[in-house]
Amino acid sequence: MLAGILERVAAALYFFLPAYVANTLPGIFGGGMPLDLNRKFIDGRPLLGKGVTIRGTITGIAGGTVVGALQGNVVLGFLLSTGALTGDAVSSFLKRRAGLERGAPVPLLDQLNFVVGALVFASFAAPVPLDYIAVLLVVTPVGHLAVNRLGYLLRIKDVPW
Ligand code: CTP
Ligand code: MG
Repeated sequence: MLAGILERVAAALYFFLPAYVANTLPGIFGGGMPLDLNRKFIDGRPLLGKGVTIRGTITGIAGGTVVGALQGNVVLGFLLSTGALTGDAVSSFLKRRAGLERGAPVPLLDQLNFVVGALVFASFAAPVPLDYIAVLLVVTPVGHLAVNRLGYLLRIKDVPW
């Protein structure tokens, strides 16, 4: 029973690896020209803001697609990666419309935007098993907190969240 559950959790994480990579790489390699080319929306605020860059988007999609290729499914890797970054950009769009500055934290939206985007895009290719969706929605925010806490304890990060 427990072994069976852990196997499904592991399978869900392996399936989602391209999305995790696509979401992580921009933080390391991103920067430079914003994807919105510094354009403003009709409300006068940035369309997406300076936290969504061309370089970050390209490295994220490329890296996630390479991981998908290594897993033997380029198309799925590409869909999970583009979906992840689209979800992230949609969430930045919504945060700017709410008048929030780039980087302002919105718990759960910040951790789940890329999960929802990647799952929606992946389902264009094939339906995603419901237990995968449940696992990813729960494990991702919890894992995110755990990783950040570890980074804080190792003095890599300034705040434990
Ligand atoms: N990043 C990027 N390109 C992307 C996504 C992210 O370059 N498409 C980089 C940016 O340097 C960004 C960092 O990764 O600051 C962290 O991403 P995220 O937390 O999504 O952005 P925030 O800076 O928090 O901005 P926002 O308020 O728009 O979420
Ligand atoms: Mg953020």
